Amino acid sequence: MTAPRHFLTLMDLSADEIRLLIDRAIELKAQWRAGNPQRSMEGKVLAMIFTKASTRTRVSFEAGMAQLGGSALFLSGQDTQLGRGEPIEDTAKVISSMVDMVMIRTFAHADVETFAQHSRVPVINGLTDDYHPCQILADLQTFFEVRGDIQGKTVCWLGDGNNVCHSWMNAARQLDFEVVVACPEGYDPDPTLLGACSQWVRIERDASRAVQGADLLVTDVWASMGQEAEQNQRAANLAPYQLNRPLLDLAAPDALYMHCLPAHRGEEISAELMEAPDTVIWQEAENRLHAQKALMELLIGG
Ligand code: CP
Ligand code: NVA
Repeated sequence: MTAPRHFLTLMDLSADEIRLLIDRAIELKAQWRAGNPQRSMEGKVLAMIFTKASTRTRVSFEAGMAQLGGSALFLSGQDTQLGRGEPIEDTAKVISSMVDMVMIRTFAHADVETFAQHSRVPVINGLTDDYHPCQILADLQTFFEVRGDIQGKTVCWLGDGNNVCHSWMNAARQLDFEVVVACPEGYDPDPTLLGACSQWVRIERDASRAVQGADLLVTDVWASMGQEAEQNQRAANLAPYQLNRPLLDLAAPDALYMHCLPAHRGEEISAELMEAPDTVIWQEAENRLHAQKALMELLIGG
């Protein structure tokens, strides 16, 4: 049996594979819109384990599998024996003996790595405390659709140096573009990752300076899942980094802006930008469906 291909971070694919995946996602989207069913997952089953909440990730994987002729199982941490302490290793051996692929959303990234080590089938990271690579596949697809290749462009990340920011940093070293992280002290991305990405990523404390000339501004919630108790402190410290019209006006004239959602209007993004009729945020959300279909095809051997 050949070793399964996992997708725990963007570094699990090559740059060429990421580009091919984006092309395929765009093609799958066009076929779906044209009403031409693609049945590349006929008879395949995806198990989805969630120990954190989700709207987009769950719906896009479940709908995506159904549209490709396969099916998906929703497993909450609470309702499985995982929630009662069954070891991840044992769970991985058993679940992966019954399904074709597993998607996991949980807290510790190490738990997804452990699962993958003991899985006979591909494991997809649907978000951990450290990374959210599926989100960035959809974000990249959106940028390519609207503006073309991202190589050589500048992306400004505004706010908490969190899991989504980390995946943008990995994307920068894979596809060779710059990421300027605008955040206050205490909210920097992981220092080890920063070291690995230093050729593509820099930190800028001043939000107005950080966004100058950027081709894309990206933000995310100030308190991620698991950090709810820090919400007020985080909101106070991160307020100068709100994605809003005055900052967008300092970026490149055709700059895009993105948010992985769910969003808090008036906190990390202004209500005006969320409501703007020309925002690509809804296209970005829909692209979760298409990018993940292309990802599943690639991992299963497409
Ligand atoms: N962006 C994202 O992953 O959304 P959900 O938390 O709703 O899955
Ligand atoms: N950083 C956020 C992303 C939600 C999709 C979180 O981890 O809660």
